[in-house]
Amino acid sequence: MSLLQSKIAVVTGASSGLGRAIAIRYAAEGACVVLADIRDAPVEGGATTLELIEATGATALQVATDIADWNSVDAMVSATVERFGRLDIIVNNAAIYTSTNLLQTSIEQWDRVIAVNLTGFFYCSKRAVMQMVGQEPVNEVRGRIINISSQHGMVASPGDFPYGVSKGGIVQMTRQIAVDHAEDGIVCNAIAPGKIITGKPGVANDPKALDYSRSRTPWPRLGTPDDVAGAALYLASDMASFVTGVNLMVDGGWMAG
Ligand SMILES: NC(=O)c1ccc[n+]([C@@H]2O[C@H](COP(=O)([O-])OP(=O)(O)OC[C@H]3O[C@@H](n4cnc5c(N)ncnc54)[C@H](O)[C@@H]3O)[C@@H](O)[C@H]2O)c1
Repeated sequence: MSLLQSKIAVVTGASSGLGRAIAIRYAAEGACVVLADIRDAPVEGGATTLELIEATGATALQVATDIADWNSVDAMVSATVERFGRLDIIVNNAAIYTSTNLLQTSIEQWDRVIAVNLTGFFYCSKRAVMQMVGQEPVNEVRGRIINISSQHGMVASPGDFPYGVSKGGIVQMTRQIAVDHAEDGIVCNAIAPGKIITGKPGVANDPKALDYSRSRTPWPRLGTPDDVAGAALYLASDMASFVTGVNLMVDGGWMAG
């Protein structure tokens, strides 16, 4: 039996990296997946997530979405419900970074990172819960939120001030939603990935940054998108119903050290 049979799931930032792996895993487990991203083409190149899912015979829907824009988020959730009838799971994954410390961060950079990484998660969670609270519960649960945080929501992200601050906010947003909406049947958890190699070009694959990550990771390799997708599958499934408000680290032991 597939773990997400006939579930309806939104994944933000599903075109690339971790969101792409999560969307593909969910579709393989029987979910209909809404791919909510500002772009279709993966940052790392290759076929689109929609093409990969449809090639397996599973169902997905790409909806051009800017999570920093309430009207865009509202339209995306409305399109999901119009097409599939309900919304069971939302994975808040899309995020950006600037690689700037406090003094280097411009007001525009701060505003945009907070708009996407914090306000965007708020918009998506609020709009999803507006839908979920009106749905009949299935196995006690009306809906699930999975927020992708980071180990850098708990320890500082070196030289990435707005990103680290935003991720700290996501850890607390997760607890707040879990506590406030448990009675509504909303399960809300976070996943804190450590260093995950996604193949995207740029600073994420800078050799010095990779050396730093290796020095912080006890497990003898860095992470893969599938490591995160496995955790996201567990938290989306009925196996995780009394699990709410947690920030599950998928970091090869980074935060244990
Ligand atoms: N890769 C890592 O090592 C790592 C570590 C810890 C946490 N994370 C977190 O995991 C998540 C995914 O990271 P990734 O490395 O896969 O990122 P990525 O940059 O490879 O992909 C992000 C995706 O989000 C989309 N996106 C960006 N802004 C958007 C917006 N406003 N609206 C909708 N979509 C938007 C992009 O188009 C892209 O497809 C992020 O929340 C990130 O902070 C990643």
